[in-house]
Amino acid sequence: MAKLLITGGAGYVGAVCARAARNAGHEVVVFDSLAGGYREAVSGELVVGDLRDRAALDAVLSRGFDAVLHFAARMSVGESNEDPVGYFDVNVGGTLTLLESMRAHGCKVLVFSSTCAIYGRPERVPLDEDLPHAPISPYGETKAVVERILALARPANGMKVTCLRYFNAAGAASDGSLGESHFPETHLIPLALEAAATGRPMTVFGTQHPTPDGTCVRDYVHVEDLADAHLRALDLMLAGHPGGAWNLGTAHGASVFEVMDTIERVTGHHVARTLGPARDGDPPMLVANAARAYADLGWRATRDLETVIRDAWAWYQKPLYGRR
Ligand code: UFG
Repeated sequence: MAKLLITGGAGYVGAVCARAARNAGHEVVVFDSLAGGYREAVSGELVVGDLRDRAALDAVLSRGFDAVLHFAARMSVGESNEDPVGYFDVNVGGTLTLLESMRAHGCKVLVFSSTCAIYGRPERVPLDEDLPHAPISPYGETKAVVERILALARPANGMKVTCLRYFNAAGAASDGSLGESHFPETHLIPLALEAAATGRPMTVFGTQHPTPDGTCVRDYVHVEDLADAHLRALDLMLAGHPGGAWNLGTAHGASVFEVMDTIERVTGHHVARTLGPARDGDPPMLVANAARAYADLGWRATRDLETVIRDAWAWYQKPLYGRR
């Protein structure tokens, strides 16, 4: 069993992974600024600190860790357009500080939370890992830059590194104990659940996309499936594998209308909607080719869209933390 430092372990995906890591028998220390995370979501010890604070990272990494799972980041595509410098500061600057501190303390194994946003508007769908990196948002740029830095640091620093490129992380812990609480919320599923619960309409961003029903298609992957992939990648590297880059999605696309229909079925409530213009920079279709993750990690998503929505609905109705 390993001793793990989990940055961003109080956030949505990080908290679910931290708990899965503990359940798998690993020792977990969470490092999180609590800027977007919640103390109540933390499994194991919490060290409150900022990634850009080298002294704070040194203080914790000097305790000796077998690996770092690095989730901490700013993650809103829209917000990144308003504040690109702030996004580079945290996502790139913070990661550089982490890498320097890891090197200083001899920690050589890293799992990095990347995203399908590094592919931008891909030239083919489903998306495999060999597509060129061509991000179209500052957020996607920050993740692509970090992947590039990691590709260089890996041999130079003698590291094992895995980049996990999530498609649309969604759902909540199946026991209702952990879930998504972003403020402001911008993601489709929580907003559509809110529309179902309140009767207030939400806006569909574009109905003229080149997709079967005209709305954008995404690959919604359950957060517990993501956690499982992290543990597999970690185990592989701890056993000597050099790591790699893997797309994490279900390989099934769902349109905005399909998501809304599923929400109506699961909740029994109507999702009122207004049809609006397309959102700037939204690629019409992002669906993973997850074959490589299956071949190399033995991983595949086991929870479908209905399960994602059932778990997200349970969390929406009874969140254990976060304001609403
Ligand atoms: N959408 C709406 N109305 C809304 C919100 C979203 O129609 O009010 C649509 C979007 O246009 C998009 C789909 O629902 O087609 C999903 O949107 P989200 O905002 O939930 O997710 P994104 O696909 O935009 O972004 C997600 C992650 C990012 C990641 C990105 C990769 O949140 O971190 O996938 O493309 F970078």
